[in-house]
Amino acid sequence: MDYDIAVVPGDGIGPEVIDQALRVLTAAGSRFGFGLKLNEFPYGANHYLKTGVILPESAFSELAACKAILFGAVGDPRVPMGPLEQEFLLAIRFRFDLYVNLRPAKSFPKTKVPINTIPEGQGLDILVVRENTEDFYMGLGGRGLGGFEGSFQAKRRLYGLTGDLKFQAAPNGHPTGPQAGQTAGQAANRPQDEEFAFSLGLLSATGCRRIAAKAFEFAKSRGDKALHVASKANAVPQLYGFWDAKVNEVAANYPDVALKRMNIDNLCYQLPRSPMDFGVILCPNLFGDIVSDLASSLIGGLGLAPSANLGDDFAFFEPVHGSAPDIAGTGKANPLAAILSGALLLRYLGETQAAEAIEGEVQAYLAKGADLPFELGGQTPVEKVGQILTAAISAK
Ligand code: NAD
Ligand code: IPM
Ligand code: MN
Repeated sequence: MDYDIAVVPGDGIGPEVIDQALRVLTAAGSRFGFGLKLNEFPYGANHYLKTGVILPESAFSELAACKAILFGAVGDPRVPMGPLEQEFLLAIRFRFDLYVNLRPAKSFPKTKVPINTIPEGQGLDILVVRENTEDFYMGLGGRGLGGFEGSFQAKRRLYGLTGDLKFQAAPNGHPTGPQAGQTAGQAANRPQDEEFAFSLGLLSATGCRRIAAKAFEFAKSRGDKALHVASKANAVPQLYGFWDAKVNEVAANYPDVALKRMNIDNLCYQLPRSPMDFGVILCPNLFGDIVSDLASSLIGGLGLAPSANLGDDFAFFEPVHGSAPDIAGTGKANPLAAILSGALLLRYLGETQAAEAIEGEVQAYLAKGADLPFELGGQTPVEKVGQILTAAISAK
């Protein structure tokens, strides 16, 4: 059996960690009797700087012709932050309607963590289930002087949105006088000179319900008695009050799983203090992004945290981390998150034994505690870590 895989190494440490993941996956294929046909795509900062194109329209059908995507990271200090991430990474998530972002954070043996709230001999088994297509990631917004007038559109598989938005600054603010640093003229008399920026958060009922149902199914299949859900309906009730209501509707179908709703600030407070209380954490898009980095910190680092972006008919696997420009090219990148993302990809393809073998070898390697990557206190460069894992997979 041969699988067509789209490989997008991307920027910064992306190519470094993806190279190692591909070595390990190929070795697993040889051992378990399948082949990977790797179709590499050049998208990322270099491609953009050379061609002026972030992701051509043709890329979507080329990617769709593959079984799944393995992706490194996007983002480069030579390119302003935003457009590359939006028009490439987010575009793929939205276009293929990959509405489920699974971000497991499971403790590894012997791995140093920055908290002492995990009892000896126990480990975390957190699964962040992040909504991946809506919320403040809609890309609806803009900036303007004295207000805003413009039209916007957004496309999802569930719906399209088009419209015009207009607002104007007016000299009728609260009569509290100027803020620090403002003259009275700036504060009240000349609001048309004020510059504004805005971004619309948006949720659909179907978008909320489908991700909530997934989270409950994961909780149920793990045998969990509770599911945490992050919200912030106290400050942003229009958006997250709606989120809470839709999640509650779905919760009615799962009477055996208790829904524990928490404001995101409290959740971030409780998570490092009582990490063992958490299992599946359901989050809207933005909070899920943040909580998944926090959870990765609790297991030892971003270099250990894999992720899967799943839709109903396509999937895209990537480490939780970004392009880490601060360590790119130094050999200090930990490739284990990319390798473990590759294992998730193999599991998605149905190559369960190969996936388990890779995860087992990562555990065994960490349990040994020798030749560790820089992130975990060692001095072993990225290729050497990949080589150790490749050798371990091939040796059996
Ligand atoms: P980052 O995840 O790239 O790095 C955060 C910190 O973690 C850095 O100190 C980095 O050195 C460290 N780190 C990350 N991965 C590591 C690894 N595998 N091994 C060792 N250390 C690792 O986040 P950032 O610095 O905020 O973002 C840098 C760029 O990456 C930005 O352009 C951002 O938009 C982009 N980004 C992309 C993705 C993605 O492609 N999925 C995810 C996050 C950030
Ligand atoms: C991630 C990243 C992306 C996100 C950025 C690069 C757009 O942080 O995959 O976690 O916020 O989803
Ligand atoms: Mn992130």
